[in-house]
Parts: sequence; C-alpha cells; structure tokens
Amino acid sequence: MPTSTRAVGFYREQHELVCDGVPLSAIAAAEGTPVYVYSAATLRARYRTIDDAFNGYPHTLHYALKANSTLAVARLLRELGSAVDANTVWEIEVARKAGFQPAEIVFTGVGKSAAELECAVALGVKAINVESAGELGRIEAIAVRLGRTARVAVRVNPDIDAKSHPHISTGLKTTKFGVPVDQARELLASVRRRSSLKLVAVHVHVGSQITSLEPLRRAAALAARVSKELQDEHAGLEYIDLGGGLGVSYDGRDVPSLDDYVSALVEEVRPTGLRIVLEPGRAIAAPAGALVARVVDLKPRTAETDFAIIDAGMTELLRPALYSAFHRIEPVIVRPDEARQYEIVGPVCETSDVVGRDRTLPQLHVEDLVAIRDVGAYGSVMASNYNRRPLPAEVLVDGNAWRVIRRRQTVDDMIRLEI
Ligand code: LLP
Repeated sequence: MPTSTRAVGFYREQHELVCDGVPLSAIAAAEGTPVYVYSAATLRARYRTIDDAFNGYPHTLHYALKANSTLAVARLLRELGSAVDANTVWEIEVARKAGFQPAEIVFTGVGKSAAELECAVALGVKAINVESAGELGRIEAIAVRLGRTARVAVRVNPDIDAKSHPHISTGLKTTKFGVPVDQARELLASVRRRSSLKLVAVHVHVGSQITSLEPLRRAAALAARVSKELQDEHAGLEYIDLGGGLGVSYDGRDVPSLDDYVSALVEEVRPTGLRIVLEPGRAIAAPAGALVARVVDLKPRTAETDFAIIDAGMTELLRPALYSAFHRIEPVIVRPDEARQYEIVGPVCETSDVVGRDRTLPQLHVEDLVAIRDVGAYGSVMASNYNRRPLPAEVLVDGNAWRVIRRRQTVDDMIRLEI
C-alpha cells in the first residue's frame, strides 16, 4: 500500500509518466495499447475526500456506476463503504455481482422499461428515482401485483441551468429529465395516498461536469424547500438525493473543491435535518484514469502543424468527438526534443475522430506512447466496437502492483454473439 507521503495518481519520475509509481510504459509493453490505466489510490483519495467533507453530517455516497462500472472499480468503492446509483437493470446486475445489497442501490434513469421496474421492485432497491407520473403509475401497478411496497424518490426538474455542455445539462424544463417543479408537489402528495408506494426522498440532478457551485446550490435549496414542505405534512422522508454533477478540471482551470461543494450542499439541507444522498461519478473516477495509446503515424498538416495518428480515438474515448471535450495529452516518456504542434487524431474513419486539437508537445515519433488524462469516468463505459475495434484492456494499479481487471476484447469475443 502506498504510504500517505507517497505521491499518488499520474506523475513523472524523471522523464517517465507513472501511475502510483508504476511506469505506464511497462504496462503498455505487457498489455499492448490502447489500454486504460486506473490508480486505486486516486479512487480511494477522491472518495474519502468527499466522504470526509461532510464533517459528521449524515450522508451516504452512491457512486454513479455509469461513470465506470468495471467490476474491480465497483468493488473497490464498495470496500470504501460506498453505495451505488445504477442507471439500468444491467448496472443493477453488475452492482449485485460487485457485492452491493439492494438497500445500497438507487435506481435512476429517464426511460426505465417495465421489465427493469419489475426487477427493481422485486429486488427491493433503496429507491427508484421516478421521472414521471406515468412511471410512478407503472411502479405502483407492479408493486400491487407483486404484493410489495415500492420505495420511491421523485426526481424534480427545477428548471435550473447547470451551465455545463448542453448535452449534459439536465436541469432545464425543456430537457427530458424529471417532473417539472410546478407539477412535482401534486405528484409527491399523491404518492402518500398510494399504499403500495413509500415516498423516501426528493431527488434533483441538474447535469454533469458542472464547474460553478451556484446551480448545484440552487438545486439543493429547491430540493430542501420541497422536502421541508413535505416534512411539515409528516411525509416521513428519509433523505434528500442531490444527484451528482460536480465537474473536474480537465484543463487546469479552477473548479470548486470537493470541500466547498459538500459544504454548500450541507448548508442548504441542514434546516431539514435530512440525510444527504449524493450520486457522484466523475468527481471520483475521472482523475483516476488515463488512456495509454501509441503513435501509429505522423504526417504534415499545415506548414506549422502535423497530424499525430494514435491507436485510440472516438471508439475508446468518445468525449472529444461528442462534446468537444478537452483532455490533456502528454508523451509517456519526454525526450529533450523541440516542441511541435499536433492535431492528435484517432484511427477511425470519421473526421470528427480528433482526440486533441492544436496541442504543443515535444516532437513525437512513430511508436511513441502518449497518455490521455482524466478518462477514469465516461471513458471505457462509452467505448464502442465501431470499425470492429476491440474494447481495450483495463488495468488497475494498486500499491506497487498492477493487474488486468478487464482483458482486451478479441474479434472472437465480438463474433461469438453473431448467428
Ligand atoms: N445521477 C444521475 C441521475 C445522473 O444522470 C448522473 C450522470 C450522475 C448521477 C453522475 O453524474 P457525475 O457526478 O458523473 O457528473 N457522458 C457524459 C456524462 C453524462 C452524465 C450522465 N449522468 C460525459 O462524458 O461528460
């Protein structure tokens, strides 16, 4: 185990980029590229920082599996005491395989099928976070049929602009998420008259990669206000679910600290006395991962810039192509060469397959390794087999040791499903 004085995460030892002390070049030599590499120490540190920031205020962290649900990652979080947010019945299945109990699972998601709802009710999850009046009715019918009481939270859409990328801002009333705040009170009141349903919480989640506290604080204040009204009517709420959404710094610019984030939420919720449930994904997992890739070709682009074509692209990291997201890219081994400007692109047959635009890096050579940083969240989970590209291996570095936690996919793995 690393001691507390030892550096954790991704840093340089002389010219070499290492993960928790293990050279990324050694992992690439053994496992090939592209390969996702995760730092167990970073996952632990990020989780514990959020947990400690509550400073004794009652809370439960439900790590959002959608950020990264590789079994070993889920198990590591369980060992830290985390519960989970599952977004599909399949994430519930993975959570169960990772050892989570039904009472440790909140089931979120905007389009839960009848089969998924039935599974969640039968399993008796901690809460199904309800997205509409229709869904609530379907849950009730299932609960009646199964002779069960379904525990539900209602996701309120507060009409708050998270000011994140529009693709991942969910708090405005024009998005598909939640029950509009002006209809939520009526729906919440109706839950209490329905004996097969137990209302346990009000839920809000206004988006992801949110880099200012203000929308998160306002959403928490609204959830607290609605909860307080329900408490005044003796609704028997158990907690407030404030979702996830805190951003990380991909480019070195300031983002709110985990401490300030948690303090703001606690401040808003404290008057209710209710326990806080959080569903953080990115804030825990993003900085814990890097994608190591190899330069496969170089060619001139303009007089001043070259293309560096690497063996990872939108199939292994969709975020740049989908959201124009920025991820730091650095050579694994820095040579004392002159810097050059590169358009760093993947091998996929799409012009949008750009991993990094206009990057100035020490001169690259074919076969050099590069590391794409902060891919621990929404990296491997969003990978695809486009162009029949196999899903990369995943490696977890823990202490001085590293191990493969998912082997590289083969074409046979893909074809096995085909008839
Ligand atoms: N809870 C709910 C209900 C969510 O929808 C999400 C994320 C989370 C929690 C976790 O949010 P986080 O703490 O990770 O921000 N693929 C996008 C992100 C999509 C987020 C979807 N929902 C990306 O790569 O940026």
